[in-house]
Amino acid sequence: MPKSCRFAIVSAVVVLLQLTSGTANDAQPSPAVERRQQAMKDMARAAKTIAAMFSGDQAYDKTKFQEAASVFVTHGGAGLSALFAVSADAKSEADDQKIAAEREAFDKIAARLEELAAAFHQKAARSGNAISADMRMGSGVSGGSLLGARPLRSEADLSAIPAEHLFHMMLGTCTACHSKYRLEK
Ligand code: HEC
Repeated sequence: MPKSCRFAIVSAVVVLLQLTSGTANDAQPSPAVERRQQAMKDMARAAKTIAAMFSGDQAYDKTKFQEAASVFVTHGGAGLSALFAVSADAKSEADDQKIAAEREAFDKIAARLEELAAAFHQKAARSGNAISADMRMGSGVSGGSLLGARPLRSEADLSAIPAEHLFHMMLGTCTACHSKYRLEK
């Protein structure tokens, strides 16, 4: 992968990590909103860890890598969809009306994240004590766009995609959903 592309991805991760501002004297979010924001923060932290290990900014550690990979499995998919079944409050950045109106499209992005997370987690579970060449972007079969917006692939297809590429496809689902259903506040 060209350096510029890697940089773009690191920037994307940085953007994802920018948490909501919210001043201290504001009301607290409801427990339901807090739960989903926490799930998102957990995924952002896991993404940061994985990105730092792929880029070499953080030493690769198999256990930490696998733990981080499991966070997306925990929070992706149906679990994520369910977290948005409740209405937002003033502390939420979710466009609840749009989510309710476009529930199927919203759930589809969540399901796509779940599918990619499962494939990525499987790869991570098999990883050794270093990032091997076949985990790298560009090795093996390439497929899927960075935006994760391609039609659903079969599990067999996904397992042929290198771990680093799957990771970027996962990040694509974060961006795809945020651009539609997360409000700028
Ligand atoms: C299916 C839609 C969807 C997907 C997929 C998704 N998000 Fe989100 N995310 C949202 C919405 C909606 C909000 C606003 C939630 C709120 O404030 O109630 C949000 C909020 C966030 C926040 C801010 C949390 C806070 O309040 O501090 C972060 C960070 C975040 N997402 C990271 C991620 C990462 C990383 C991924 C991918 C691994 C991801 N999201 C995938 C919809 C999604």
